[in-house]
Amino acid sequence: MTDNTSPEPGSAHPSQLSCIGCGVVCEKAEQNFRCAICGDLLEIVYPSWKSSLSDAAALKALWRQRRTSGLPVDESGVWRFRELLPSFHDWQQIITLREGNTPLNEMPGCARVAGLQQLYAKHQGMNPTGSFKDTGMTMAASVARREGFRWVACASTGNTSASMAAYAARGGMRSLVLIPEGKVSWGKLSQALDYGAVTCQLKTDFDGCMRLLNEVVQRMPVYLLNSVNPYRLEGQKTAAIELIEQFDWQPPDHVIVPGGNLGNSSALGKAFLEMKQLGFISRLPKISIIQAAGANPLVRTMRENGGKTLVAVQAETAASAIRIGNPASWKKAVRILQATGGAVEQVSEVEIALAKAEIGADGIGCEPASAVTLAGLKKLVKQGFVKAEESVVLILTGHLLKDPEFTLRFHRGDLFTGTEREKEAGILKHQQRAPIVLDATMEAVIRTLKEADDRLET
Ligand code: F0G
Repeated sequence: MTDNTSPEPGSAHPSQLSCIGCGVVCEKAEQNFRCAICGDLLEIVYPSWKSSLSDAAALKALWRQRRTSGLPVDESGVWRFRELLPSFHDWQQIITLREGNTPLNEMPGCARVAGLQQLYAKHQGMNPTGSFKDTGMTMAASVARREGFRWVACASTGNTSASMAAYAARGGMRSLVLIPEGKVSWGKLSQALDYGAVTCQLKTDFDGCMRLLNEVVQRMPVYLLNSVNPYRLEGQKTAAIELIEQFDWQPPDHVIVPGGNLGNSSALGKAFLEMKQLGFISRLPKISIIQAAGANPLVRTMRENGGKTLVAVQAETAASAIRIGNPASWKKAVRILQATGGAVEQVSEVEIALAKAEIGADGIGCEPASAVTLAGLKKLVKQGFVKAEESVVLILTGHLLKDPEFTLRFHRGDLFTGTEREKEAGILKHQQRAPIVLDATMEAVIRTLKEADDRLET
């Protein structure tokens, strides 16, 4: 099956790489995915879209119909939307784990604590390796293989490395992972090992790993799979298309996203802007980006200079996925905030822990970095930026089981023991459910059941 001969509406649009700084257009990127002229990031553009993608209704029908197809390219929740992605001559060349197609769930308990009538979560942690990274990795890893690379590489706080290692393995490529020693959760680290990555734990933080890798890719024939690679963002963009499809093409009022290296917020924003441009939606949701207060370069950048120059920080947060002080895609994220009218907000470690437990109590669960969305939303509601009757979607980026140690320590009550936050953490008590050690008798179990029931009544 080749896209170029397909009779499907709107298929196979040539794409180009365009610099977000100086606007220069090129066919092929440098190894570091920076503009050869001004050093800024690149993005994918589709010059022929305006003229030929007019039939939005036909595409909506086609994308829905593909859900019943057995072809890998249709079963993937990314490639199902391939008319809005860079095209492949032979779709059998793509590396897919049937990523995407993630659920949109109502969150009644979280809506209550946030002060909203209704709240939804789109759970990108339900992807094959447990995070949103898979949607971008299927695209960029496929490009790496098409370009003939034997090695792919990334710096990571854990999820990118897990995802990259899986897609590289599926595509017959080797993978090199640089991670900050001691700052990546075991769940994520064990995935990279199992999928066969050469995994280097470096005595530095994520930002240090990124700096080093940029030098490595200049010297070695290794394909960079961090989110500076614009193909990653094209794949990640499909989560926004799928979300709008789940809302029957009526955009919600707000989408709330965690911010780390700022690739994901940029990708989702790009999709909404493109869908508006192409007539799929008539208005834009406001995209708000939430960071941990200890890793808040975007918040500071917006507050201190309105998004003009990056205020890099020394990052520290237990939400290790977003422990990033020098985000690569900050300019793209600023553009999305400005284009959609979204807000930036920061949340404390205790607020993150509480929000994570509240998401769990709705039967959904997520990793700490994803929980900043609910914690930030509560603040945006209090500030009046989000109104009680508005429709809001939290983007949950990683699965609960990515970081079980955080969750166990939370429920045991020792997450903040011995830290300056110990007193503030008192508010977490009513969410904590430590395992109960009992004698192995029926009486003991029944007594515990009754006590728990009494507690629920009061
Ligand atoms: N949530 C999770 C679970 C993540 O793993 C990340 C980033 C983010 C949010 C932030 O997304 O960087 O696009 O703003 N993790 C990267 C990694 C950095 O290496 O896994 P972002």
